Amino acid sequence: MATVRDLHQQIARLNRIGIALSSEHNLRNLLELIVKEAREFTQADGGSLYLIKGEKLVFEVAQNATLDKRLGRSQEAFRPFPIPLTCESMAGYVALTGKVLNIEDVYTIPVDAEYHFNAEFDRRNHYRTQSMLTVPMRDNEDQIIGVLQLINSLNEHGEVVPFLPEYEELVLSLASQAAVAINNARLIQQIKELFEAIVQYSVEAIDRRSRVTSGHSARVVRYATFLVDAINRQRNGPFGEFSFSPEEIEEIRVAAWLHDIGKIAVREAILEKENKLTESEMEAVRERFAAIQLDAERCFLERKLALLSSGEPSPEALEQLEQERIATLQEIRDDLAFLERVNIPGYLEDADLQRLQAIAAKTYQAPSGEQKPYLTASEYANLSIRRGNLTEEELQHMRSHVLHTKDMLSKIPFTKNLRNVPLYAGAHHEMLDGSGYPEGLKGEQIPLQARILAVVDVYEALTAPDRPYKKPMPAEQALQVLRSEAGRGRLDKDLVELFIEERVYEKAQGD
Ligand SMILES: [Fe+2]
Ligand SMILES: [Fe+2]
Repeated sequence: MATVRDLHQQIARLNRIGIALSSEHNLRNLLELIVKEAREFTQADGGSLYLIKGEKLVFEVAQNATLDKRLGRSQEAFRPFPIPLTCESMAGYVALTGKVLNIEDVYTIPVDAEYHFNAEFDRRNHYRTQSMLTVPMRDNEDQIIGVLQLINSLNEHGEVVPFLPEYEELVLSLASQAAVAINNARLIQQIKELFEAIVQYSVEAIDRRSRVTSGHSARVVRYATFLVDAINRQRNGPFGEFSFSPEEIEEIRVAAWLHDIGKIAVREAILEKENKLTESEMEAVRERFAAIQLDAERCFLERKLALLSSGEPSPEALEQLEQERIATLQEIRDDLAFLERVNIPGYLEDADLQRLQAIAAKTYQAPSGEQKPYLTASEYANLSIRRGNLTEEELQHMRSHVLHTKDMLSKIPFTKNLRNVPLYAGAHHEMLDGSGYPEGLKGEQIPLQARILAVVDVYEALTAPDRPYKKPMPAEQALQVLRSEAGRGRLDKDLVELFIEERVYEKAQGD
């Protein structure tokens, strides 16, 4: 019989276990911990845990010290199929009746008993189950959520003995603490899933505002996840000593999901902007050039009329006028062709800029009789963009998305594990040499997590399949860009090399 002192010790131990259980929120770890603690508590060789799922009992954990020693931990994955929730099995009986079964030797259970011992496990593993204690796991609402089963209590000589009756109450109490902890872990898991789903769906909806960004964030998450995984796997080299914890990985993933959430505040026209002028703006230019052509024809007709009405013009004078007409019309067509060309984003040379200025300075007579310029001020401003397709104002507006990201995220009450999400997401356009935005942070001022986002964000933007204004860049070429950006001191060299060496760009594409 246990002494009062023993009991006190056991209760103290039970309390310690309770505290350990309530601080473990990972369901899988928690279930393993419950079985491990219950086994230690009762000196049980083995233990299993079943959870009730619908009409079934699902086998969640199986531990067995003897088999571990004999077979090694990974040898036998003794995870039977879910069993029906009926009184046929011992676990089912306990789950349905809420009674405790403390059996000295399971092979002596009378054949007419309601429940039976299934010897299948013993046969397969050459094991001898003898004593068994099976208790229900009741939560704080008195609902049975599962069953804890302990196998073969061992005495100090390692011999199998029956489970002491005193253990029944204590294990029951442990099981109900475990049930509460399981419910909490499930609740936390559900809240996490809910949060993730809301983040994913809202971000995907924001990305879908434009073909340019559709699917961007989801792909950035995949690339980031695979790059983080490569960092954790590296044993030698710059990240050999370093690894991210599961919580840190989660934090990076959430930051990756949310990094461009500020694009919600960016005008759609800018997100969608393909060339320097929109198609309808370019169409207006084309129509104007048709009017310019008509105006030119009208001028020449007037001049010809003036020549003819002034008497007998020389054939040379008429011919010269005709040549001039042909040259002028050709020049108008050339000007329009030039505008069509510079409308496509690329690099604008000095000579191109001068020609553009010359065209913008030309005027024609509109049908209303007014003199009008060939190009409006806004058309000129857009067409004279020297690199890319955004004007300075539009570029600033586009870049402001990261300020909105920071601002929006700083208002979300992230949990402790996710507290750096606004910091990482808000720094995804910072470059190591200080040339990035919004802060112009340099080197060590930029956290590794934000550098990871920067690398994968650039790669995704280059290779995205859905950019309307350019064909996706082939992987090889995009990797060259990453290398050159790293060479110029903008992107993290070690990350870029790892991204390439580990073929993160390929792995993240497959399933
Ligand atoms: Fe961004
Ligand atoms: Fe991005």
